[in-house]
Parts: sequence; C-alpha cells; structure tokens
Amino acid sequence: MIHRVQKGSVPAKPHTAFYVEGRLAYEHCFTRRGFEGAYTILYHRREPHWVRTEEELGAHPGASPTAWDGPVRRRHFLTPQLPEGGEPFLGRKLLLANKDVGVWIARPTADDTTLVANGDGDELIFVHSGRGRLECPLGVLHFSPGDYVFVPRALPYRLRLSEPGFFLILEGRSFIDVPRQFRNPAGQLLMGAPYSHRDFQEPAWPDGGPATLGAPRVVTLLRHGRLSRLEYVHDPFDVIGWDGQVWPFVFPIRCFQPKTGLVHLPPTIHTTFAGGGFVVCSFVPRVVDFHPQAIPCPYPHSSVDCDEVIFYAEGNFTSRRGVGPASVTLHPIGLPHGPHPGRYEASIGTTRTDELAVMVDTFAPLLPSDHARAVEAPGYNQSWLAGENGGVME
Ligand SMILES: [Fe+2]
Repeated sequence: MIHRVQKGSVPAKPHTAFYVEGRLAYEHCFTRRGFEGAYTILYHRREPHWVRTEEELGAHPGASPTAWDGPVRRRHFLTPQLPEGGEPFLGRKLLLANKDVGVWIARPTADDTTLVANGDGDELIFVHSGRGRLECPLGVLHFSPGDYVFVPRALPYRLRLSEPGFFLILEGRSFIDVPRQFRNPAGQLLMGAPYSHRDFQEPAWPDGGPATLGAPRVVTLLRHGRLSRLEYVHDPFDVIGWDGQVWPFVFPIRCFQPKTGLVHLPPTIHTTFAGGGFVVCSFVPRVVDFHPQAIPCPYPHSSVDCDEVIFYAEGNFTSRRGVGPASVTLHPIGLPHGPHPGRYEASIGTTRTDELAVMVDTFAPLLPSDHARAVEAPGYNQSWLAGENGGVME
C-alpha cells in the first residue's frame, strides 16, 4: 500500500509460464477488496494451496466477551498487570473492541510455534518493548521498541523474539493504510505528509529466499474470532520472488514528523494511519505551540462521535497525571474530557514535550473485555478533582 516493491525473481509478465530450475512456478495473487484493491503476486516453487489436514481449535483464548458495565465513565486500564507469557499470537489478550477494531495487548516471552495468520483483519503492532523479527513469505523484518509493525490481513507469518515483548496490537477489521489525504494524485506520499516513503522499512530478502527460514508448514488462522490449524503440503515460504504493494512493514514512531502551530492544533495533526471506522495517531517528542500566550496543553473537548483510546509509552504526557508506561485510557463518547488539574496552567510558556503515545479514535463505541475490567484502576473518572488522586497511580 505504500509503494510497489519487488524481491527475488519474477517473470516479465504476470500470468505467464515461469520456469525455475526446469519446473513451472506457481503464481499466487494476494489481493484486497476483491480484485480491485492493492495486490501482491508471489511465485512459489510448489502449489501454495494444497492443505493436508485442518483442525478447529475453538475461540481465540484471549478473546473474552466484551460488554459495557456500570455508568459511562472515563476508564484507565493498568495493562502491566496483565499476565506475561505465551506466544505473540495465541497469548494476546483482547482489551477493547467494536465492529471496526480490536485493541489487544500481548506480553509474549516465546516465539510463535506455528505460522499464524489473522483472517479477521490487518494488524498494526506497536512495540512498547522487546525486539525480534517477523518472518513471512515476503522476507524478514526486524523490530525494536517504538516500532509499528504492519501485517496485512491473512498473511502467514511468525514472530521470533530476541527479548520478551510488550505489544499493543490494533486489529483493523477492514484495512489499515496511510490516510488518503497524504497522497498526491500519482500515489506518492505528499511532501507535506508527516512521513516519507523512505520511513517505511520493507521486508529484507534472505540469501536463498524465504525458504531458507525453515518455516513450519502449519498455519494457525484466526477467522470470526475462532482458530483453525491448517497443515499445508508444501512450505508456505518457498517463494522465488514477488512484486506488489501488499507487504508488511516497520514504521518507527519516531520517524513521524510532528507539526506545531502558532496556537494549539487539533489532534488530527497526529494522524498516522487510518482504518475503516478509526484512526491511529502518534504523539512524539516535539516543540510546542509558539504564540507567547499559547496554551500547549490540549483544551477540554467533547468529540461527540469518537471514543478515544490512548496508550502511554514514554515521557510525561502533557495533559495527564497518574498514568504510567503502558497505561491505556478510554474516554468514551458522551463525556467531555481534558487535562488533569494543574496541567493546563503549567503548560503555558513551555517549549517542548517529551511525550510518546499512541492514540486510537474510533467512530463506534468500544466495549471493554473481562481482561480490561480485571486491570481497571478504580476512581479514574474522579481523578480530575483537585487534590485527589482518585485511586490512580502517581
Ligand atoms: Fe481527546
């Protein structure tokens, strides 16, 4: 979706005979929006679609039911209290969801033991901590703290960790892409966009191709919130080459180029990715508004058709007290929200902020899961009362 990439060997023309070492290669068209959207064409040594066995595993173990409970309130979830362990895909816990997006947290300590594929949506994995590599039929990506890792829907992959991870995972039930307004009519990212083509890291092509990665032939596939396990006859990574615009990428959050105005600009300037029914925004260290009387801290506001989720990664968030690394707050439609006491006033005259956070604004209400309720900090909705900490950590 960023731009066209080619790795390995491909024939001069699609859909024509392509012989490799005397054997006809098998073309595999990986398409979106039917056949009208972005696509990638892979060339496999052997038939990529032969399945030997399939097995139904039931609901994803981390996908607990979501439901609203109690009065409408601003909520604070202490995700570091979620248990650590397990694999990135099977060990993740659903925190919040609506029809458009699922918000998951994973704290894996082990690699994915099979290939995995998310048939329910694109994944945008924000790496809060941990390092490792993503292996897939298109190549290898390395990730480290502060990276967004984008994985296209239904692409088989596995994560291999060199350090335990702490991931925020956004599952876009339609597609996740860069916002359309950041492109010129030729499809390039505009010079005024908050990033350039060079900021998106492509999968590296291993010497000898992805077949050298020794991938399992078993894929654990998520569809309708349920897991199936399929064993393919041939290595899903036996790819000779590919070209196209559907590929996983790494985008380091610190490559986001923030904008600053004379006076405060709305949060939309932080928009980084867009999905159907939601946007993802990046708050990165930056110079703040420069009018002598500017109030750099966000003004109280009622966004009457947006639920707002913020994942706090690092630094001192300008408008909040009582939140720590990996805190997640949910400010729902229907309530005004704004800075904690003292933050509004204290921001006047400041020149910089060191906050690092990811925000998700959704246009349909989000519902919390049992996992979210288990780690909710009591009293957050009252934590704006001056002089009281409302039970949130400080
Ligand atoms: Fe807001």
